Amino acid sequence: MKVAIMGYGTIGSGVAKVLDTNKDIIKERLGEALEIKYILDLREFPDDPHANCFVKDYKEIAKDKEIKLVVETMGGVEPAFTFVKAMLEAGKSVTTSNKALVADKGAELMKIAKDNDVNFVFEAAVGGGIPIIRTLTACLTGDVIEEIAAICNGTTNYMLTNMEQFGSEYAQILAEAQSLGYAEKDPTADVEGHDSCRKIAILTSLVAGKNVDYTEIPTEGISKISSTDFKYAKSMGYSIKLIAKSTKVGDTYSCRVAPFLVKPDQMLYHVSGVMNAVSVRGNMLGESMYYGAGAGALPTASAVVGDLVFLARNVDKHVRIGWANEKLELSNPSEQKYKYFVRTSALQSNIENEFEEVKYTDLDLDDETGFITAEMTESEFNERKTALGGVISVIRFY
Ligand code: HSE
Repeated sequence: MKVAIMGYGTIGSGVAKVLDTNKDIIKERLGEALEIKYILDLREFPDDPHANCFVKDYKEIAKDKEIKLVVETMGGVEPAFTFVKAMLEAGKSVTTSNKALVADKGAELMKIAKDNDVNFVFEAAVGGGIPIIRTLTACLTGDVIEEIAAICNGTTNYMLTNMEQFGSEYAQILAEAQSLGYAEKDPTADVEGHDSCRKIAILTSLVAGKNVDYTEIPTEGISKISSTDFKYAKSMGYSIKLIAKSTKVGDTYSCRVAPFLVKPDQMLYHVSGVMNAVSVRGNMLGESMYYGAGAGALPTASAVVGDLVFLARNVDKHVRIGWANEKLELSNPSEQKYKYFVRTSALQSNIENEFEEVKYTDLDLDDETGFITAEMTESEFNERKTALGGVISVIRFY
């Protein structure tokens, strides 16, 4: 069976490597070989083992009836969307690793795939090498999913782990992560939580069966976390993790991406460095957690090739996943309830006036006090916080 790869960067070339390295076992499992016929890329790769496969026009692939399977590893929404749409409309199934495309256009592409009796799959778009998509859309379809909580960004988890271990400041650890190639030159998508936001939007769409608009998910990143926050966390026996969370509320879900304080008896506490983990609670299953490499060429390419085998086994037959284009109205985020850790320059008497029941966590620092609130809604917390004033930082308890 012939395959086309669109985009020959880190992931696309990783896909070729997985197909080449494991060709015999893939052939044995599938009953026929998966062979690369085209690679779409504007750059030249004269020394590549697949040098004779390169094309520059996606239409060449779209019109070739021999191609049934297409990999999209270009990244970004456009022109990936135009190319993927054209492939699906030409009767080809597509797998993508591109979370921006899936979060933005997933439901629409799913419908196009259904209308053309082909498949659109995206195992590699969330959690890289962790098979979380198929887990949710196949293995856990007997459950109502009550909660998903994910550390789904390796860059930020690496940075937070290092800040915790070495007491480094955010800017210093970001520079280090950039020099090691973990963080991008423009790190905004990772450090401000946008990447995690798209991933939890995709996972929530899949378990809800309706489309989550990722722009409606309240999202905070890690750029305001400091070494002092970690000192407080340590004194309380907690760690700080960037968590993308989705909780079932009635017929819908309540989502948030933010740094959370987690304690050692919570599984996500133990997820360190570049690793990712997705914790899922089902109404029958209870809690289960999926852990592994969330990024990197080969783990991500492994997920893409797993998708290719799935697509090859289901050629010309649309496999329903149940992700409708209909919008999911998310639950009001200001009604979410948390306990909050607050650092403020306000006087203790004012803290007690505004928040009544509090527990202090004192580091003996000049000019500031740390305290923990009782559980309350976001809207109530924000009112009290504004009335208090002098707030330096706030971190929610998970
Ligand atoms: N920038 C992402 C991360 C890559 O750091 O996890 C995988 O989506």
